[in-house]
Amino acid sequence: MKGIILAGGSGTRLYPLTMGQSKQLLAIHDKPMIYYPLSVLMLAGIRDILIISTPEDLPNFKRLLSDGSQIGMRFSYEKQEKPNGIAEAFIIGEKFIQNDSVCLILGDNIFYGSGFTKILKNSVEFVEKNYKAKVFGYYVNNPSRYGVVQNDRLGNVLSLEEKPENPKSNYAVVGLYIYPNSVIKISKYILPSERGELEITSINNLYLKEKKLKVELFDKNFTWLDSGTHESMLEASNYIHTIEKRTGLKIACIEEIAYKLGYINKSKFEKLINSIGENQYGEYLKKIINGV
Ligand code: G1P
Repeated sequence: MKGIILAGGSGTRLYPLTMGQSKQLLAIHDKPMIYYPLSVLMLAGIRDILIISTPEDLPNFKRLLSDGSQIGMRFSYEKQEKPNGIAEAFIIGEKFIQNDSVCLILGDNIFYGSGFTKILKNSVEFVEKNYKAKVFGYYVNNPSRYGVVQNDRLGNVLSLEEKPENPKSNYAVVGLYIYPNSVIKISKYILPSERGELEITSINNLYLKEKKLKVELFDKNFTWLDSGTHESMLEASNYIHTIEKRTGLKIACIEEIAYKLGYINKSKFEKLINSIGENQYGEYLKKIINGV
């Protein structure tokens, strides 16, 4: 399975913060926002990742993450010339995906909760075995902001709507989507919505129509945050800070994950720590390598 992180958009809701740099490179507490979705793909066992961003911002992502070999990953980069919608990721990523299945994650989504790695692994396996799509729902108090999924009592999907005025449920569709290879063909077939975007919800509705869509609802004790406004960014930073301080463990620390998954050996990890230098983040990695 391949992975795509969509980190485009003009970020106008965060102006002036995003006038000079990409939203997904802004800080969520102690690391760039993109580390959070990147860590999700790593935990899903995906090592080939395409990062899609605007022509202006792409060089900065490359500067931050380079070709990925420093953490035992393989990163590719492609431009999204205009914010034409999430579903365009599969058209832009066609050559990268080739004949594989693909997991798309939005660059501003943050996930945290026990059992998540298992959910990810099971979902990847489900899509690869059944050639069906898999998406996830999360209970929120403001569903109109999101794609909304309505289920019956048996867990069958009744409807999927993008930012409905009168949402049929409180379950938002989160920015994590797993598809079989057919998603490339489908993304070329859908038409732009009224707001002129190729909507991911249109893709999901087509899978739903063909009875090839599975939705899993996250527990209410699971955490899903997006960071599209000044307030939600601050809340996400505070949340990560609180947990990291309490436990002494970092969330979405891609260097630690790479080492623990065996993607890099001890000497490569040491080199990486040296390149990060003498600071709090480096000190944390030193503790990890020393097994403290
Ligand atoms: C997008 C999707 C929406 C989804 C959300 C998750 O909306 O269109 O269906 O629920 O991401 O973050 P956006 O936040 O890009 O407007």
